[in-house]
Amino acid sequence: MTRAARLLAAMTLEEKLGQLTMAAGTQALTGPVAGGAVEAEIAAGRVGSLLNLWGADDVAAAQKAARGARLGIPLFFGFDVLHGHRTVFPIPLAEACAFDPELWRRTAAAAAHEARADGLTMVFAPMVDVARDPRWGRITEGPGEDPYVASLFSVAKVTGFQGPDLARGGAAACVKHFCAYGAAEGGRDYASVDVSERAVAEVYAPPFAAALAAGCAALMPAFMDLAGVPMTAHRPLLEGWLRRKLGFEGVIVSDYNAVAELIVHGVAGGRAEAAAMALQAGVDVDMMSFCYRDSLPEALDRGLASMDRIDAAVSRVLALKEKLGLFEAEPSVHPVAAPVEDAGALALEAARRSIVLLTNRGALPLAGDARVIALIGPLADAAEEMDGPWAAAGRRADAVSIRRGLEAALPQAEIVYAQGVAIDGADFSGASRALDACRTADVVILCLGESAPMSGEAASRTSLGLPGRQGELARAAIDVARERGVPAVVLLSSGRPIVAPALFEAADAVLATWFLGEAAGCAIADVLTGRADAVGRLPVSWPRAEGQIPVYFAQRPTGRPFRAEDSYTSRYLDCANEPQFAFGHGLSYASLALVSFEIDRRAFRFGDELRFFVGLRNAGARDGEATVFLFSRDLAASVARPLLELRRFGRIALRAGEAGTLEFVLPARELAFPGADLEPAFEPGAFEFSVGFSADRAGLVTLAAQALA
Ligand code: BGC
Repeated sequence: MTRAARLLAAMTLEEKLGQLTMAAGTQALTGPVAGGAVEAEIAAGRVGSLLNLWGADDVAAAQKAARGARLGIPLFFGFDVLHGHRTVFPIPLAEACAFDPELWRRTAAAAAHEARADGLTMVFAPMVDVARDPRWGRITEGPGEDPYVASLFSVAKVTGFQGPDLARGGAAACVKHFCAYGAAEGGRDYASVDVSERAVAEVYAPPFAAALAAGCAALMPAFMDLAGVPMTAHRPLLEGWLRRKLGFEGVIVSDYNAVAELIVHGVAGGRAEAAAMALQAGVDVDMMSFCYRDSLPEALDRGLASMDRIDAAVSRVLALKEKLGLFEAEPSVHPVAAPVEDAGALALEAARRSIVLLTNRGALPLAGDARVIALIGPLADAAEEMDGPWAAAGRRADAVSIRRGLEAALPQAEIVYAQGVAIDGADFSGASRALDACRTADVVILCLGESAPMSGEAASRTSLGLPGRQGELARAAIDVARERGVPAVVLLSSGRPIVAPALFEAADAVLATWFLGEAAGCAIADVLTGRADAVGRLPVSWPRAEGQIPVYFAQRPTGRPFRAEDSYTSRYLDCANEPQFAFGHGLSYASLALVSFEIDRRAFRFGDELRFFVGLRNAGARDGEATVFLFSRDLAASVARPLLELRRFGRIALRAGEAGTLEFVLPARELAFPGADLEPAFEPGAFEFSVGFSADRAGLVTLAAQALA
């Protein structure tokens, strides 16, 4: 008999339900129901895991209480380690811009190392909700709009967090939020989602399947309802798809208070019903609603829930604790006083690679002889914003502000700082000082954007322009710069794309600097000065107007595609169809060009492997790198396929004057798509394959090939 089986046999119902109960500590507040003193509950075997509690002393005290309970079962400790624990890396949406799965893995591994050293054994990450609506603040937590990118991100993060062995330093990954949460109606957090089963199969579910295939230990269902069925009680998807079809045996952890919210959703009559619905759907652990602990006994009595289900859930929790090595010697818990040295260097590397140069009319890199720099705007000296909305145990005030980074990078320059206006609010009284600074400067740098809490959970917005009076400040400062013939550069710090078409027109250069984490200022200075090239590329289409949303490159063809000369075609009367910047967009200081595109065969069958060769040349004077995307289009299928589907991406570094080839290998079976019955269908017919530096179709090089039966 295994230890888990022995324990299960020895448990009372109360102890079993304790294992299924996750309570909160008080070091962070991430939901509407606050945590409190839990030691007595733990000692009574009524709590099996904790969230929002970390650090040597606190974890050891809680673990001691657990070991003192009748059966002495250790706790596991979970926390939202989305992009770093003590060392804060760029927000996931920013890190996705690097298009570098190895970087994604390394930052996850560093985060897990620090989390584990702080006693944490589960990270509520990665967040892999495909998001095509930047009104939704949680777009910041994930890798953007594309399911293929999200799947690679998912695998890289799970592999990084969990490491080769959960018992030796890995943290259990809890992939979230299953499923289609990114499609919340109107972009309003927690709102209903009503997307087709096809959209779930093609777009929203694949990153979760990828995580599970990579061995992800746990999964969190999303808060929202999918066509009327809250995900916390979604039997077809949890029990049917995850458990039965994919064979997932890991732990399903509810979101915060989500079991009790089944009542508010309007599907459960009371707490016993809510608990039974979640349990019977496959949710093992009840985070912070206590419905399992308090009301499953009643649900059992009333025949709403079964003991088999409870036993299965407890077994999964115990199996995870075994895998984490928690039953063995006291887990080594020691505080990480300062960030591990290499984590700091990694934070800088990741931050540099996350920056996207959106426009550049010759203003960047900064001229070496710029002596006086006007550094203007509410994000210029805002260290506390740089870590973004999910900064885990990072010390926000320690992040390097843009001002500090620039001062360190350019000691010979005079940097005249003036905030001008606040991030939000109506006060414009500080603007004149800021404009005065612009009147004597050789270059104007405007640091604009959102505050950290303007994105993330419960942070939806309908207007995605610059908040408050920043737009006015920017216009005035750019006017001054223009009159004086000096460049005006804009840095956008934000958790989502900012809609600002006039700013993109007026400024001499604009960079998306997102929330880059603790090394933000240093990384930004490196890119502004040209010490590092701008290599980030957009993992989302950047809208030019909120009314375009959802805007994404994988749209399906319409029967009336836009033609300027025909008004009965798909268009807006007041806005272009194309986004401001396409998925994949990003400029560099180096100039690499595509020179050739070849495929090893023009006809292929299901079992074949296609090889693509992309020739590139660096014709400029600066060494550099390019990110190349490979798309396909299935021209005639039983179900219309998107205009572009991303199949591969890759990066190549070339010295000045050098030429090179990037090779992509694509098994033809990956061109199958969910057919009428949602099972994979590989259909003969014409395909197009395209490569380019972004999803802007005008810039793609395309060739044709034929799928054979
Ligand atoms: C969020 C989750 C998070 C959980 C625990 C919830 O409010 O939706 O993403 O993991 O809180 O902090």
